[in-house]
This record gives sequence, C-alpha cells and structure tokens, in this order.
Amino acid sequence: MAKRLDIKDLNIYYGDFHAVKDVTLEVPPRCITAFIGPSGCGKSTVLRTLNRMHEVTPGAYAEGSVLLDGEDIYGRNVDPVSVRATIGMVFQRPNPFPTMSIRDNVVAGLRLQGVRNRAELDEVAERSLRGANLWEEVKDRLDKPGGGLSGGQQQRLCIARAIAVSPDVLLMDEPCSALDPISTLAIEDLMGELKKEYTIVIVTHNMQQAARVSDQTAFFNLEGAGQPGQLVEISDTETMFSNPTKKETEDYISGRFG
Ligand SMILES: Nc1ncnc2c1ncn2[C@@H]1O[C@H](COP(=O)(O)OP(=O)(O)OP(=O)(O)O)[C@@H](O)[C@H]1O
Ligand SMILES: [Mg+2]
Repeated sequence: MAKRLDIKDLNIYYGDFHAVKDVTLEVPPRCITAFIGPSGCGKSTVLRTLNRMHEVTPGAYAEGSVLLDGEDIYGRNVDPVSVRATIGMVFQRPNPFPTMSIRDNVVAGLRLQGVRNRAELDEVAERSLRGANLWEEVKDRLDKPGGGLSGGQQQRLCIARAIAVSPDVLLMDEPCSALDPISTLAIEDLMGELKKEYTIVIVTHNMQQAARVSDQTAFFNLEGAGQPGQLVEISDTETMFSNPTKKETEDYISGRFG
C-alpha cells in the first residue's frame, strides 16, 4: 500500500563528515518525487536514509525523523531490516543475482520472509513480472539465469523483485543511467504505471527525465567542497522547471538545458 513519507530536520553524517544538512520535505503517496542536483550534493545519501540503508556504511548515521504514515522509521523499537523490506530500493546498475533463475530472483525477498508455498511464489512472480512490464519477454524462460537478460530487462527484473514484497515506498537511484534510450523509455513508462500503486522517489541526473516522469521535484545543492548538501527548493515539477523560486535553481536547470 502506498504510504507517505515526512522527512523532518534530517542531518546525515559519514563519521565526522556532515554530508547533508537540515532536510525537511514531504513525499506524498501515489506520486513520483524526483531528487535533482549536482554530483556530491547528497541525493543518494538522502535516498539511502529513507530506508535505513545509510547506516549500513560503518560510521554513518542520521539525525532527525523520517515518518512513514506517521511512524518514525528511526523509532526506538523499529527493526531496520523490516524497514528495508517495506521501503524497497532499485539501484543505478541492475543487480540481479546473476546465476539465480529469473523466477527465483523475483521471489527472493518473499523466500527470505519465509514464504515456501510454490503456487503462491509462482503467482507473485507472474504478477510482479507483469507489473514490471517484463512478463511477455521472459515467461518462456523463467528457469534461465537472471544474468542472461539485457541490461534494460535486468533493471525491470530488479523492479519486479522490489515490488514482489508489496513495498510501501519504492526508492530508485538513477535507475536508467546504465540503460539505452529505449530501455530508459520502457522504465519511465513503467514508473508512470507503478505510481498508481506506489510512492516513488527517484534520483536522476537527467532533467528531461525529471520533467517527464515526476510530479514534484526537489533540488539539492552544496555551497562548496566539504560543505554539507542542502535542499534548496521543492515544488511541483511544472513550477520547478518553468518558474523556480530561487536563482540557484534556475541557474542549475538552465545550465543543464542550455
Ligand atoms: N560511503 C561514504 N563515506 C564517506 N563519504 C561518503 C560516502 N558516500 C558518499 N559520501 C560523501 O557524501 C557526499 C554526498 O554523496 P552522495 O553520493 O550522496 O552524492 P550524490 O548527490 O548522490 O552524487 P552523484 O550525483 O555523484 O551520485 C559526498 O561528499 C560524498 O563524497
Ligand atoms: Mg548518487
């Protein structure tokens, strides 16, 4: 079920390094929120804080709160592993388990959760592959290894794997940056479908992509090397690209388009 995220006063650190400062933003359900901004401003860091992947890095921690439909995922009794199961992530490079079959790749998360019933696993595999717009291409080769698919197919397989566990939120860190234009369009179309059911946050370097797929856009920037990244501006995507409030945002957007 799609849930909302409320991020409040988030400060993110790698040991002594203050990587991202004072982020407050709302991520509504059934929408695509895009994070844009220059390299190093902290987009991936913020994204990884939203499902507690950030703290997997030794010495890394975050302060502030991230509420999932009102419940703080950093709450005292919250198990980070269960957070990662309900807030799924798709990475820049497709990372299926290469020797594992296509079907088993999709249901790997469910197996981890203890589901053993073959009929149920098969049903979820089909539904997720259909949801990821990959079913027709792989239905006759479900027992073949995931590593044998094209890059674009592998990325859709990773999306199928992420949605197989019915996550509340889907985080995507530059999911198309390793893909050709046709596969990129396939993923963008897919995101348009998925947002009917999921809350989606996507990091992208591609302004046109942000403008095409997202409903709201957050622009991050940093004042200089060694300084923490900051959220400069967030608004609905149309406003952001046609009439940004801050000059900084306008410079960034027009620089990239120009
Ligand atoms: N594992 C890490 N250990 C220490 N510092 C890190 C680590 N990962 C990222 N950083 C630092 O945190 C800051 C933000 O990095 P991050 O990867 O979030 O930026 P980004 O906006 O995603 O950049 P890009 O667009 O290049 O992916 C950078 O200064 C980066 O060097
Ligand atoms: Mg990044």
